[in-house]
Amino acid sequence: MLKIQIQKSTLKSVKDHTLIIPLYQQGAKPELPKNGAFLRSILDKLTKDKVFKADFKEVNYLRFIKAGQSQNVLFVGLGKKKDLTLNRLREALISASAYLGKAKVPSFSCHLSSVNWAGKRSFSELTQAAVESLALPLYKFTKFKKDEDQNSGVKTVTLAVDSPEEVLEGKKGLSKAKVFIDSCNLVRDLVNTPHNAMRAPDLAQAAQDVAKNVGLKVTVFTEKELHKEGFGALLAVNQGSDIPPRFVILEHNAGKKDLDTVCLVGKGITFDSGGISLKPADAMETMKDDMAGAATVLGIMEIAAKLNLPLHVVGFMAITNNMPSGKATVPGDIVKSYLGKTIEILNTDAEGRLVLADAVAYADKHYKPHLLIDFATLTGACVIALGEAGAGVMGTAQKAIDRLRELSCLTGEKIWQLPLWEEYREELKSDIADLKNIGNTRGAGSSKGGMFIQAFINDKTPWVHFDIAGSAFITKPTHRYTPKGATAACVRLVSEFLIQWPKA
Ligand code: BES
Ligand code: ZN
Ligand code: ZN
Repeated sequence: MLKIQIQKSTLKSVKDHTLIIPLYQQGAKPELPKNGAFLRSILDKLTKDKVFKADFKEVNYLRFIKAGQSQNVLFVGLGKKKDLTLNRLREALISASAYLGKAKVPSFSCHLSSVNWAGKRSFSELTQAAVESLALPLYKFTKFKKDEDQNSGVKTVTLAVDSPEEVLEGKKGLSKAKVFIDSCNLVRDLVNTPHNAMRAPDLAQAAQDVAKNVGLKVTVFTEKELHKEGFGALLAVNQGSDIPPRFVILEHNAGKKDLDTVCLVGKGITFDSGGISLKPADAMETMKDDMAGAATVLGIMEIAAKLNLPLHVVGFMAITNNMPSGKATVPGDIVKSYLGKTIEILNTDAEGRLVLADAVAYADKHYKPHLLIDFATLTGACVIALGEAGAGVMGTAQKAIDRLRELSCLTGEKIWQLPLWEEYREELKSDIADLKNIGNTRGAGSSKGGMFIQAFINDKTPWVHFDIAGSAFITKPTHRYTPKGATAACVRLVSEFLIQWPKA
């Protein structure tokens, strides 16, 4: 477990294995930080040799130098002072942390007061951003590695600040950041775990464990209850499988009627082979990530409980794998959904919208939420449109979407709105059922996926859909917060949104 702390210490007296010193650029060279006269000759040499200019995100690691009390120093460029935003600070610190993570240093400190923060955000928010940026890139998925690999790497991260006031303010941001980081790492672990260790009952069990730990009410529907309740679309996806499905309901502030209700619904396909509409073998292994939506819901629920948000938050995880077999649903089959609408399944690989159709209808009917948000690794089209850098967002709750877009500048998680144009809806009409699960053409695949889900939600329920197909799991380590694999995309963003709910 990574230890994260905040301490009062001047730049010169920080004593750690490695000290990160953030530096602004002035002219084409690093600016001497406040109380940093002792660094003058080193920085002059670096400038003279043109090795380090304090460009935005530029890092320079110097080992065994005599500067202050730390054995090693990592300079990180913040770029020009006038350009600094909270997000740019995040990115610079991510570069620093990722560098030291790769270098496998045992511990490091970062002197935060050197940033000399003059932005609109409070020092507590600055600290939260700094802690998240320093800790999130250090994540490693080690569950299946031998002990020595599990224990190598950074064990302690310290934020060093000049004054006792900064320690006090910083502690607020630090404790919130810790809650966020723990839940993000839970989500990453769940999503990175392969299918043979993360089947539907395993994911439901993980949800029950979290619920027990943080005090959430939890209900789990097994196959029997799903049949009884009429989850026809979810069961159609599970039909080819030897592993039973699960539907998990998590509730924070259950029964508190005076609070606003927000429902969070997640796609939990523990493995998506495509079913009878089988996927090509190439990169099929990444489809263990197809339960990321459900994991996201669990992560946010954990945060809601730990921070005891004054909101009634209800999480739903629709869980099954999608497998071909002699029993499996085949293209052309018609099934009856929870809402009663019939669906002609023309492609068994468009299974996410089927499990979500039942899940959102159930959430909407029983909880009548002020806002319903769903998360799904729904479409390859979203990956084509946005790559792995951010999530697609769409829905009817425009105010909430606008707010989420603003907040994404605070949390550093990219989202991009896609349209729900009427032209697309036509294509979801079936000749012989109420709806079909794919359009006639390949265009606007993400919007059509979203609009299919919309058909199972009351028009009057404000709704936001996140397509995290690209952002939940990255295949190249280019993403800013995370190594290859699961990212926990949208967990911090939506948690922050819930924390600031009255403004939403
Ligand atoms: N799980 C996939 C979407 C996906 C693709 C997630 C790539 C992550 C990375 C989803 O179930 C799927 O297969 N969607 C189909 C829908 C199509 C048949 C309408 C797709 O996008 O090809
Ligand atoms: Zn699929
Ligand atoms: Zn899928």
